[in-house]
Amino acid sequence: MELSNISKEVIEKLRREMGKDSYIYNHSARVADIVCDIAEKFGLNKEEIATVQIAALVCDYGMIPILDTVNKNGKLTDIEWKLVQGHTKTGSDILSQNPHLREVAKIVLHHHERWDGNGYPNRIRENEIPLGARIIAVADSIDAMRSKRPYREPLPWKTCIKEVFGNSGVMYDPKVVKATRSLWRGWKNKHELNQGDNPPKEQQKKRKEVER
Ligand SMILES: [Fe+2]
Repeated sequence: MELSNISKEVIEKLRREMGKDSYIYNHSARVADIVCDIAEKFGLNKEEIATVQIAALVCDYGMIPILDTVNKNGKLTDIEWKLVQGHTKTGSDILSQNPHLREVAKIVLHHHERWDGNGYPNRIRENEIPLGARIIAVADSIDAMRSKRPYREPLPWKTCIKEVFGNSGVMYDPKVVKATRSLWRGWKNKHELNQGDNPPKEQQKKRKEVER
C-alpha cells in the first residue's frame, strides 16, 4: 500500500503513542508479521497484504487512552469490559478521518468480530467481516496465546494449534485457519513470538517496507 505522507504521519503518530505500552506495541508488531505470512498464503496481492499489515499494527491503538482499565489487576467489571471493547471504534474513528485509510479503518473496527457472529462491536458474521479483520483475528489469538503474560507462561504450540483449529468455523474463518496449516512449523522454528522485543531481522525488514 502506497501511503501518502499524511497517512504515513497518522500511522507513525499512532504507533509512537502505542509505545506507551510495550506489550501492546510489540504484540501488534508480531501480529502484523503473522498476518503477512497468512495473507501471502491466502493469495492476497501486495497492496492488500500491506493494508492488512498496517491495520494489524494499529488495531489496538484504542487501548492507549484506557490503559489503566486494560492493565487493571483482576477481573474487569461489565462497564470496564464495554470500555475495552470500545478500542475497536476509537482507532477506527481516527483512521477513517483520512480518506486513504478508510479500508484500514474498516478492518480495525471489525478485528474482534467472530465467524459465528458472537464477536464485537457489530456482531457481523462470516463473509460480512472484512477479510483483513478475519486474518487479524487468527493472528492476534496466535500471538496472544504464545505471549508470556504477568499471570501466565506462553501456551505450548500444541495447545495453540488445537485452539485455532478447534475454533475454525466458530471464532475463525475456516479458510484463514486452513491457510495457516503449512505455516506453524516455520513459526515454531524461526519466530520467537514470545520474545517480541527482538523480532527476527527478516520480519523487521518486511515491516519497514510497509511502514515506509
Ligand atoms: Fe484488539
